[in-house]
Amino acid sequence: MKRKPVIAIDGPAGSGKSTIAKLAASSLGLHYIDTGAMYRAVTLKALREGTDRKNEAALTGLAARTVIRFEYGERFTVLLDGEDVTEKIRLPEVSKASSDIADSRGVREALVKKQQEMGAAGGVIMDGRDIGSVVFPDAEVKIYLDASVEERARRRFIELAEKGIKTSLPQVKQDIEERDSRDMNRPFGALVKVKDSVAVDTTGLDIAQVAERITGIIKEKL
Ligand code: DC
Repeated sequence: MKRKPVIAIDGPAGSGKSTIAKLAASSLGLHYIDTGAMYRAVTLKALREGTDRKNEAALTGLAARTVIRFEYGERFTVLLDGEDVTEKIRLPEVSKASSDIADSRGVREALVKKQQEMGAAGGVIMDGRDIGSVVFPDAEVKIYLDASVEERARRRFIELAEKGIKTSLPQVKQDIEERDSRDMNRPFGALVKVKDSVAVDTTGLDIAQVAERITGIIKEKL
C-alpha cells in the first residue's frame, strides 16, 4: 500500500522550523516529528550521565538504550524514557552540547532509524537538518527554511527571555553562528539544501505569513 505523504522541513537553528511545522501539521492533519528534540533528549541524558561526548562507543550505547516518544495532547510533549523533558531540552547548555552529540555517527544512525520508523506510514511533517537528504530522501515535499542570522538570533533571544532565561543578543548570535558552522560541516547528516527542495526565506515575515506560505507549498505539491 502506498504510504501517506512525508513533508521534510530542513533549515538552520532559529529559522522557525518547529513553530511552522507544528502549525502546518495541525492545519493539514499530519503528525509532527521534531527530530531536533530527539538529539536534544539524547544530549540531556548524556549530560546527566556524565558521558564523555567524544566517546563514540559510549554515545552509541546510550542512544541504543534510549526511548524517545512524542505525545500530541493539548501541548506537544517530548518523553525521554517516559519522563517529560519538553522544557528541559530547551536549556542553553543542552543546545550547546547538542552539536557534539549530533556529530556522533552512532547517535545519528540510531536516531535516523527511529525517525524512519516513525514516518514509515507517512502522514508526517518532520523537521531537522538531514530529513530531505538522509532520513526521507524520497519525501513528497521538501522545504528549506532559512532567515538571516540577525533575525534568527533576535527570535531566539526573545524566546529565551520569555522563558526567563537570561542571556544577551550578541551571545545568542554567536551561539547560532557556531551551531550553523557545526550543522553545515559535520561529516554525515550535515545541513544542506537539496536540489529538489523549495527554499523559503522567512526574514521579515511573521509566523502567520510563513505558515500560509508553507501550507500553500505543501497543498500545491500534493
Ligand atoms: O533544531 P534543534 O535546534 O532543536 O536541533 C538540536 C540539535 O540537533 C542541533 O545541534 C542540530 C541537531 N540536529 C541534527 O543534527 N539533525 C537533525 N535532523 C535535527 C537536529
